[in-house]
Amino acid sequence: MNKVKWGVIGAGGIADRRTLPGLMLAKNAELVSVMEVNMELAEKLRVKYNAKKAFDNADDLLADPEIQAVYIASPVVFHKEHVQKAANAGKHILVEKPVAFSVEDGKELIELCKEKNVLIATGFMIRFNAYHQEMKKLIAEGKLGKVVSCRAQMTCWYPDIPGAWRQQYATSGGGSMMDMGVHCLDLIQYIVGSKAKKVVGFTDTKVFNYEVEDSASVVVQLENGANAYIDAYFNIPDAAAKGFLEIYGTKGSILAEGTIGQVEGGKVKIVISDDALGYDAQQERVDVKPLELNVELGNIYTKEIESFSNSVLTGAPLEVPAEDGIQVQNVVEKSYEASKNGKIIDL
Ligand SMILES: NC(=O)c1ccc[n+]([C@@H]2O[C@H](COP(=O)([O-])OP(=O)(O)OC[C@H]3O[C@@H](n4cnc5c(N)ncnc54)[C@H](O)[C@@H]3O)[C@@H](O)[C@H]2O)c1
Repeated sequence: MNKVKWGVIGAGGIADRRTLPGLMLAKNAELVSVMEVNMELAEKLRVKYNAKKAFDNADDLLADPEIQAVYIASPVVFHKEHVQKAANAGKHILVEKPVAFSVEDGKELIELCKEKNVLIATGFMIRFNAYHQEMKKLIAEGKLGKVVSCRAQMTCWYPDIPGAWRQQYATSGGGSMMDMGVHCLDLIQYIVGSKAKKVVGFTDTKVFNYEVEDSASVVVQLENGANAYIDAYFNIPDAAAKGFLEIYGTKGSILAEGTIGQVEGGKVKIVISDDALGYDAQQERVDVKPLELNVELGNIYTKEIESFSNSVLTGAPLEVPAEDGIQVQNVVEKSYEASKNGKIIDL
């Protein structure tokens, strides 16, 4: 099989924790080089993943004609510089979320990629969980009826760490909503098949001392009229929140636990109650046999890399174009504004 030859910029963080192990399993991708901030780390990663070359700067990696695509997983503040350099070098780009520091920067980068005729996608790998793709299908088929309400939750315990780039606006662009809430919002829009049209939110720093928010409760109204609640918190112990995803429609519900995360899995209960009941003053909650889901679970990072590589090789449309990342980032930026001004904002 034809394989896309990849280079990785910022290979020592999530790349090492998840994406590189996923890439190694991809059928249509081959890792050629890794770049890190110092040669010692780059060389360690080169050996670990059996890559051909290690670099301590992005320019040298990008000058290599063998590289066709780059995965950019550097801290957010460097995304713009790395995307610009990669596009100018004619490489296709998979850049981690958020695409850039701001919506304005993101739009500029998308224009540059168009001009240079390179693909640019963003790292919303949670879409590739087979459960989520099955949920999307069921909703598109109308099995849940009219979707009226959704909730997606992503949390972690992230205390003050001196120098952490995620904890300062200047290097991250935002806190729990920008870092984790983006996945929740993207996922709801993806599964339901409708984009946010209004946003309101409470985003604050309640527990820790860093600049960015450690707490975000954001409500969006989707174009189809459904309301969606996103909770993204940095101050809840890891064992205490389960990454709930709930979608309610006029004919049923999807109740999932643990599908929003880095490992493809979780538990999903789908209840379809399609019996056009009349009003029941007793509001009895009769047990309905949940729908069995027959999905094949794998590695969402492998699927993400295979999907992008397939677009490079065949010209198939990107499954997660960077435009989707920018649209989500716009909602996040507006949720901060809504929280600050106590207003509902039209998007
Ligand atoms: N999709 C996911 O599962 C997921 C999970 C975590 C983080 N992320 C995203 O990945 C990106 C990186 O986050 P992280 O958690 O890996 O951060 P991290 O700090 O753990 O890792 C970032 C890596 O980039 C390197 N780096 C620092 N400055 C650099 C530079 N100038 N050039 C190149 N590399 C540089 C660091 O040495 C480090 O190894 C962010 O955009 C984040 O939002 C995605």
